[in-house]
Amino acid sequence: SQKHLIAPSILAADFADLKKDIQMVNESEADWFHIDIMDGVFVPNISFGFPVMQAIAKHAKKPLDVHLMIVDPDRYLQICKDSGAEIITVHYEACTHLHRTLAAIKELGCKAGVALNPHTPVSLLKDIIQDIDLVCLMSVNPGFGGQKFIERTYSKIKELRALAADQNTDLLIEIDGGVGTSNAGKLLAAGADVLVAGSFVFTSANPMETVKELKAVNPN
Ligand code: DX5
Ligand code: ZN
Repeated sequence: SQKHLIAPSILAADFADLKKDIQMVNESEADWFHIDIMDGVFVPNISFGFPVMQAIAKHAKKPLDVHLMIVDPDRYLQICKDSGAEIITVHYEACTHLHRTLAAIKELGCKAGVALNPHTPVSLLKDIIQDIDLVCLMSVNPGFGGQKFIERTYSKIKELRALAADQNTDLLIEIDGGVGTSNAGKLLAAGADVLVAGSFVFTSANPMETVKELKAVNPN
């Protein structure tokens, strides 16, 4: 298996000095920018929207991995793409016609991701998994950074790996919430490909070094 990817979450960056944090990610060993968009309806919080994402995109030198925590995301796919998204992830719980939504994302030329809340079983993806480029397993309840990692996530990763293998399809498994060097090795061993990290990176004394440490973790 190839080296895992690190996606620092901009939600934990300094919003009054975003350019500094974007440059840190550019210069670090990070692979993607993780961009959390919230609407105050799907999740009980509001983060930032597309004008801020466009400002980030102007300086970012790595792909924008956009996590839409919004209801009825179909309304915003075009502007999301136009704002610089390379990967667009929608929530399973927010999409009545998920197959159609994923097709619309791909039609825009983006990679299509599906996020699952902690309570949503992996088995619900059985009849859509062939159409998914990335599954984001939420390891906290979405809406806030800095929450405690939910241990159940490990078995969901293994189950998702098995489901994908069963259907001979490949996808990236991304873990979002409460990730740091204490659980990264176990997540990789379970089958994770992409680690999102917000507070662990941005509240550390040396964020660039912290990204390097996350990138250097071995499965264990
Ligand atoms: C939570 C967001 C996460 C968040 C992770 O709703 O989807 O991406 O930024 O933050 P940490 O790494 O602090 O748990
Ligand atoms: Zn996220």
